Amino acid sequence: MTEPGTTGPGMTGPGTTGPAGTADSGIGLRHLLSTTGLRREQAEALLDTAHGMERALTGRTVRKLPTLRGRTVVSLFYENSTRTRVSFEVAGKWMSADTINVSASGSSVGKGESLRDTAATLAATGADCVVVRHPASGAAHRIASWLDRVGHSHTDGHVAVVNAGDGTHEHPTQALLDAATLRARLGGVEGRHVVIVGDVLHSRVARSNAHLLATLGARVTLVAPPTLLPVGVDTWPVATAHDLDAVLDPALDRRPDAVMMLRVQAERMHGGFFPSAREYAVRYGLSERRAARLPEHAVVLHPGPAVRGMEIASAVADSPRAAIIEQVTAGVHVRMAVLYHLLAGREAERSRTMETGRPEE
Ligand code: NCD
Repeated sequence: MTEPGTTGPGMTGPGTTGPAGTADSGIGLRHLLSTTGLRREQAEALLDTAHGMERALTGRTVRKLPTLRGRTVVSLFYENSTRTRVSFEVAGKWMSADTINVSASGSSVGKGESLRDTAATLAATGADCVVVRHPASGAAHRIASWLDRVGHSHTDGHVAVVNAGDGTHEHPTQALLDAATLRARLGGVEGRHVVIVGDVLHSRVARSNAHLLATLGARVTLVAPPTLLPVGVDTWPVATAHDLDAVLDPALDRRPDAVMMLRVQAERMHGGFFPSAREYAVRYGLSERRAARLPEHAVVLHPGPAVRGMEIASAVADSPRAAIIEQVTAGVHVRMAVLYHLLAGREAERSRTMETGRPEE
């Protein structure tokens, strides 16, 4: 991730009159490509802004802030999506941005256009931000580095890129919305024990969460069959385990404050990673019996789409401890915060630079 001179963590909450141009809204973020390079104060500023967005919208019948009026956000999705695509679109619209959706089918991508040409075309048509989901790991980084070179935006020559999921690599806004949900449910992330269960190997959600949660001071345990843990996981800031029942043991000192279930990414699997769906569910599914062993306050998360009966029992997904629907709502606020800092926040930084000739220290 590119990080120019930073302005530190200080920022104002998003007011209802449009925070663009307010004194300290920049956090030194040009793109949001991963959580790996996100500093703690940047992540916390994004989460604080998301909370501010939620408060700014609460009780309003007309959910429209003027913050990004005149800005264009293009979503470029090469993979299926419901939650991520819709919540980015809603987030942009609630801040008065012009939002445009491009899907691989129905665009020139279907005619064989390269990713690079598509990205350059979007920039040339005036996009200020490109939100991209792509099956290839690293696609968002590539687009960001191409656009940093061509930079055609009508506003300031910079087109911000948000990674909305690249292959098995990262999904930073998902991790941020998960952290926002944990903050709301548990009062904070620092010192909490989060257990992430399932297909870690193919999960961009797991990778982004492992890094963000560690950055925010949580303790993370990944639980998966050995075949579904990536090579190199020993370099991640996490503990690993293969036996879910052992990790959920009520006799342990550090019981989970949250359990995040991952979908088995069948579409990314070539070959047998476990004997059968039934065997997987028996060993790694969050059954009612397993959920009953969690501490009273523990939260159950799932990024969706959840395959009920496989990784999570229907009764658990519908139980009060599950925050699956809250995660989706948090996703809108978090994506508002991300667009705000990438677009309006940068504008504030730029006007400061123009006034003083240098970015704020
Ligand atoms: C996740 C994704 O696409 O990576 N879903 C999402 O963004 N809500 C997880 C998944 O597909 O299992």
